[in-house]
Amino acid sequence: MSDLFRLDGQGAVITGGGRGLGRAMAQALAAAGAGCVLVARREDDLAESVKLIESAGGKAVAVVGDVLDPEVAPRAVAACLEHFGSVNILVNNAGQLSIAPIEDTPDEDWQRVIDVNLMGPFRFCKAVAPHFKAQKSGKVVNIASVLGTFGVGESSAYCAAKAGIMGFTRSLAVEWGPHGVNVNALAPGLFNTDMSAGVFQTQPIYDAIVAGIPRGTHGEPEDLAGTILYLCSKASAHVTGQVIHVDGGATIA
Ligand SMILES: NC(=O)c1ccc[n+]([C@@H]2O[C@H](COP(=O)([O-])OP(=O)(O)OC[C@H]3O[C@@H](n4cnc5c(N)ncnc54)[C@H](OP(=O)(O)O)[C@@H]3O)[C@@H](O)[C@H]2O)c1
Repeated sequence: MSDLFRLDGQGAVITGGGRGLGRAMAQALAAAGAGCVLVARREDDLAESVKLIESAGGKAVAVVGDVLDPEVAPRAVAACLEHFGSVNILVNNAGQLSIAPIEDTPDEDWQRVIDVNLMGPFRFCKAVAPHFKAQKSGKVVNIASVLGTFGVGESSAYCAAKAGIMGFTRSLAVEWGPHGVNVNALAPGLFNTDMSAGVFQTQPIYDAIVAGIPRGTHGEPEDLAGTILYLCSKASAHVTGQVIHVDGGATIA
């Protein structure tokens, strides 16, 4: 049974692999045998992720770039082919958040949040498409959020983008099902990363959010390891177009 979760000989591209959830998911995939290509803008963060993976016996390389640069997705796929021989897994994790009332949200902030969270995955899916179709297999995991399922105020672009990525996931799952490619979304609840630092630094906000989590606490990045491994491995062979919430029960309470 444990073979179901092995990824030996596979190549994985993980956007936003420089820190936070992307780094933890890359560590999980590398520990299962995948060679990982990590994409982000900050070179020092990427170097640290590569070091952590290699020191645990895994394989990883860094591609420095912005997911909105049209050259970056093809470059990441080329790096995956060059270093690991194939591209089998794509984790669209790079994301950004903007918090402000709608009338105080500049158009550029709205557009940036929509673009990073939606255009980025679109570009990376386009880049893996010929490879996944030719080999008649592949796994795409789009990182959504519970905020694509329920709303919070002052986060209109983020909630729209994360709901959008769920629709994108379902459409591509239908389109690529006949090609043997699984496309799913993983929707985290509150996790302890740089992105959510504002919540962790403001006790009343943290307490209010945790009060709505049946398990009574937030997640740590390593809590995603099992779910990402499941969605990227043979274990999820017949699962596609789904949104799996990893949120301590926040969306069912
Ligand atoms: N933390 C949470 O509670 C939570 C909850 C639900 C969903 N999520 C989602 O989970 C994903 C990861 O979030 P996180 O908490 O790990 O965030 P994080 O700590 O801020 O890390 C985000 C990663 O994405 C990269 N990134 C951001 N914009 C990029 C761009 N334009 N091009 C390339 N890389 C970019 C960042 O690297 P650079 O800045 O170096 O580019 C960084 O490596 C996001 O999609 C987020 O929306 C997080």
